[in-house]
Formats: sequence, structure tokens, C-alpha cells
Amino acid sequence: MIKFENDYFFLEGKDISYIFRIDKAGYLIHCYFGKKIKAHPTSIVPERFYCWHSWGEDGVKLDEIAQECPTFGHTDLRKPMVNFGDKVSVLKYKAHKIYKGKNPLAGLPSSIDAAMDAETLEITLFDSVNSVEVTLFYTVFESMNTIARHVEITNKADADLKIDSCYSMSIDFEHSDFAETHFAVRWGFEREKVTSPVVRGSLDLNNARGGSGHFMNPFVCLHSPDANEKQGDVYSFMLVYSGNHSTLIDTDQRCRTRVMQGINPFGFEWSLKKGETFTSPESLLTFSPCGFGGMSRSLHKFIKTNIVRGKWKNKPRPILINNWEATYMNFNEEKILSIASLAKDLGIELFVLDDGWFGKRNWDNCSLGDWYVNTEKLPSGIDGLAEKVTDMGINFGLWFEPEMVSPDSDLYRAHPDWAIHAEGLKPAESRNQLVLDLSRKDVQDYVIESVVSILKKAKISYVKWDYNRYITDMPRLGYNHEYTLGMYRVTDEITQAAPDVLFEGCSGGGGRFDAGILCYMPQVWTSDNTDPIERVYIQYGTSFGYPTSTMGSHVTASPNHYTARKPSMKTRGDIALSGNFGYELDITTLPKEDLDAIKAQVEECKRIRSLVQYGDFYRLADPFRGNIAAWQIVNEDKSESFFCAVRILFKSNVYFPIIKLDGLSEGALYRDEYTGNIYSADELMHRGLFVDFDHGDFVTYTMHLKKI
Ligand code: DGJ
Repeated sequence: MIKFENDYFFLEGKDISYIFRIDKAGYLIHCYFGKKIKAHPTSIVPERFYCWHSWGEDGVKLDEIAQECPTFGHTDLRKPMVNFGDKVSVLKYKAHKIYKGKNPLAGLPSSIDAAMDAETLEITLFDSVNSVEVTLFYTVFESMNTIARHVEITNKADADLKIDSCYSMSIDFEHSDFAETHFAVRWGFEREKVTSPVVRGSLDLNNARGGSGHFMNPFVCLHSPDANEKQGDVYSFMLVYSGNHSTLIDTDQRCRTRVMQGINPFGFEWSLKKGETFTSPESLLTFSPCGFGGMSRSLHKFIKTNIVRGKWKNKPRPILINNWEATYMNFNEEKILSIASLAKDLGIELFVLDDGWFGKRNWDNCSLGDWYVNTEKLPSGIDGLAEKVTDMGINFGLWFEPEMVSPDSDLYRAHPDWAIHAEGLKPAESRNQLVLDLSRKDVQDYVIESVVSILKKAKISYVKWDYNRYITDMPRLGYNHEYTLGMYRVTDEITQAAPDVLFEGCSGGGGRFDAGILCYMPQVWTSDNTDPIERVYIQYGTSFGYPTSTMGSHVTASPNHYTARKPSMKTRGDIALSGNFGYELDITTLPKEDLDAIKAQVEECKRIRSLVQYGDFYRLADPFRGNIAAWQIVNEDKSESFFCAVRILFKSNVYFPIIKLDGLSEGALYRDEYTGNIYSADELMHRGLFVDFDHGDFVTYTMHLKKI
């Protein structure tokens, strides 16, 4: 998979090649990333670069050359991947090694060699101007179309080294005939798909708000301008990181494109003493010549195999009911038990107690950090309540927001200095709360101990880990990375201490939906916006980078609490069924017909959840471009598929929408389990399905196809 011949490195994944070489002067020259090149010519990069206006004494003008690890200020004046105190720097090859497998990254989450098919190349470069060693890591996986890259920087000088920026990867493409697609936008509307042409200059797709953020997901695609779901070259870059990040797309005077991804250099600085090493987060590079669909399925496979780990990795996720939108913080034990008991009768498998169970928290203005039960609300305590719920035959889960502290809390009164603050300034509150300074070991230890002691004492099989504000008042440059490392230690210790517990990440909904969190928690609450119509866009956008098994999606009340829309129970159920299914409404007040519908949905979820959670995802109609959304999930042997189409608004006198399905077995017949209709796979895929929506707005049409 990794070969070194005539100074060329050939890296091969399943259908991809990544090629670069060491030139005469010792620079690493990028040659190619894309569809697999089976024969290996060694003339892949013309030597002509060297005849042109050379600047350097070694005869090289790096400004003209595609590189693997560009530095600043000597013969390349483009943006650098690594920057040491804005000093001129020159990195040249020193040594390399190739080995089977992959090592973890110090203090950071990273992909694993789950299928034991990984090979890693480590190349050490040396900057003799600054006495810095930079090691580039590349891991390829034989069964995957994703390459993992990261960087380590070691200070070899006697004096301290200042790092101003350290991107995890850089790649130079020799043209700019690209468009880019990223996933932005805000609380309540996460991961909106945004496409723009790559133009001259720089596009910095970044977040500087503390976590990976609602505003910009650390996942960006660079693609042929006309790429669609089935055709076109699509490259994607996903950072395995939950702090401030940046993906920089930079074009130069000759219309060539440099892409770099890593920690956001804005607000970043790191100092290394002699002999110390800085490790960057990992960046995942995926390529498909088969459009966005091919890229997503490759990346989903990588995330399901090499990012998600632990007991729940391949297990069907439980159908849960969460009391948040049912009661908010206004509940008592009797109310909770009545919801849990009815949920059990409806076939639901897990009851989750959300915010408001601790301290004196009846609203969001107090008690974060005081992780002891409010016995006025819950006289049996969490352990007693968990016992009562589990005795009913339904599992029990609990909400925490471990990284936060309320100014009105015993914890803050005892340790005001534990909240992040800049010297001489009262820290800014958001949602009446402050963020704990997780760069401190004593604070980390407090958080670990308070959560683990509850998990050990009560019968808890699920944790919802919330994080509900941005980080302000960072005390120094580089602090956000210190915080992120501390948060990872806390998360790692807590999840290791409770290996059977299913953890679901959350951050005001989907504000920290990233591959870093997924290394610890196999699923994330996709958005606080639970309106199924809004969720069509949110889940569709999320699906470009992340598989269905990572997305929490629940049926909520009508009218919806966020939008006041009133989609039917069927629409709410059908859209939630395309993720990790659950409920979040007061079922004890519902009429019998709704309870019957829930029972049927729960049974259906149990029939299709392995398929939905672990199948291959096909996007068929894009809601960002029209009035219809459709997608389909197909299992590995193509014997089963779940299809869902949504019409947003009814339009008078328009023809049936025709949707072409995908991924089925050519020549086979399939039966739709819902209607009994028999379909030819070829007809569905090539002629398309006339979707017979019910009358009205916000309607869905689903099929559960089984191969005959
Ligand atoms: C934000 C989450 O996204 C909600 O689901 C809920 O858990 C609240 N926080 C509780 O404060």
C-alpha cells in the first residue's frame, strides 16, 4: 500500500492514489491525489519548474511547485502550513519510515486501524534555519478511500520555539477549476449546504467560537464545478477535532489551489521548549470520482469503521424517549415515572432524564457544576429513580453538562477562579453560565470524579453530554487548544470508566458535531430544531459528512415548539426514522390514535434500524435545490432498502415528482413491505418512481423494499 521507489512515495487506498516525491534539493513535492493510478510512472511531475527564474541557491522556486508541507518566506510566498514566529523557514527531507498499523495521537482523538489494514508513512523534515523537526504522518487503509494526515513539530533548538500556525495537512492542486461545498450556519439550522466557485484569493472556512461550532463544520469538499451525487471528482477534508478550526482554500497568481486544514491560526500560538513536541489534530482526506454520493459513502464507511469505537459501534441504537420537550425542567418523580411507564408499554427502550435534575435547577439560571440530585423533585435520588425505571423494563439515561458552571452554584461560590476568565475582566455569561477552565488538571479531575461517581452508583446506560455556549474570555493565545485537550482528557476518562454506557454528544443541538467527539461518543444530537421539515435540511446537510448512525432524530410535539408547524405524526415519524430514532414529547397527554401510531413506529423502527443505522446512504433529491427531498438507505448485500421522500409544499397542478432510486441490485425485483407493490430495481433506478404523495404540505412517502 505504501511504496518508496526512486524518491517517489506511492500511497494507495482502495480506489485512490496519493503520490509525492523528494526532489533533488530535499523538498517534498506533491504529485497527485485522486483515482487510483495502477502503473507508476516516475515522470509524474515535469522538471520544468527548475528552469524558471529560480530564487533559492538550491535552484528551486517553491512558489511554482506543488508541495506537501509549505513554509513561509523563502521561495514560497503563499500561505504556509507551518509558521514559526513569522520567521523564514525551509524544510527539507531528513528521514522516513513505513510501518504497518497506526499509532494514536498524543492527547487527541484519532482514527484507529479497526480492520488491521493500515500502513503509515512518517517523514521527518528538518528546518536548519530554526532548528525545527517536522514529521508528516500519512496513514492509508487498504479497504478505504480515506487517508489520515497529521503533523508533529519538535523543537531542536536551545531557545523556545514559537509556533504561530500548524495546519494538519496541505495539498497543492495545479489548477483552480473547482467549486467548494461547506456546511455552515447557526443554532437551529446546522450544516446548511453552501456551494461557491473557488475564486482568486483566500476562502477561510473557520470557526473561532470555542467548539467546532454551529457556524462552520470542520468538513469541506473541493470538487469539479459540475459534480453531482453520481459524477464528478469530489475531495473532502474532515478534521478530527472539536476546537477552533480552519480550512483554507487559497488560489495563487497562476490559478493553482492550495487547501490546508487544521487548528484555526486565529487566536493560536504554541510555545515549545527544547525537545518538546507539538501534535496537530488529524485530518481525513477522502476522494471519489463518483460525485458527492461516492465521497459520502466512502467517508461514512471510514467513520463507522475507524472513528466510532467501543461497545455501541455496531449495535442497534436504543429507541429513546427524552423528557426535555415534554416537561423542560418542570417535573417531579411521579411525572417522570408516568412517562417512562407508558413509554415502556409502547415498546420504547430507554428513558432519558434531561436537564433540571440537580442542585436547585428549575430554570437555566443556576446549579451547573452542582452534580447532586434535587431531592425535592426526585426524592428517591438518581439511583432510586434509575432503579424504579429499570424495574419497569426500560433503561435509564441521564443528561449532564460537565464542562459548565453557573455563577449561582455551590461550585462557583467555592471556586470562582475555575471559570474561564481573562485577567481583570468579569467573564461574559451566556445562557447564564460560564465555562470551566478545563486546561487545569484540578478542574478536569473534579469533573471526571463528579460524573463517574454518579455513573457508578446508578443504573445508567446512556448519557447525553451537553455543551451549551461558546467560549469567551480566553485568557491567552492558544488557550482554545489547551481547553480542547483538557476536554478530551475528561471525555476519555469518563467514557473509559463507563464502557457499557452509550454516550450522545450535544451542543445546543449540533454545535459540536465532529469526528473528534465521535471518537468517544458514537452519536450526536443533530439539532435543537426538532421541526421535521427543518430537520430534512439539517439531516440532509449532515449526511454529506456523517453517517445516519451518528445522528439523533426524535419525534416531537405538534405544533412544534420551535416553528409552530404542525406536520402529521406520520411525517414526524418518517423523518426521525432516518437517524437514531426517539421521542421527545409528553406522551401521557396524547390521544389514543397518536399512541397507536407511536407503537407502530416503534415496531417499524425495530424492523429497519440496523438497515438505517448501518446501510449505505444515497441522496436522491436535494431540498436545498427544490421542493422535494429524497434519500435511500441500502444494506450491504442490497437485499433491503429504506426510501423516504418529502414534499415540502404542495404546488397546484404539477406532475408527480419522479425520483430515481439507487444502489439496488440490477435485474432484481423488490417488494415494498408497506404496500405489497412489486418493483423492478432497474425500473426504479433508471426510469424512476412516480411518488404518490398524499395531498397537502409537509408530506412524506416511504418504502421498505425487500429483494424477492
Ligand atoms: C440543549 C440541548 O440541545 C437540549 O436538547 C436540551 O438538552 C437542553 N440543552 C437542556 O438544557
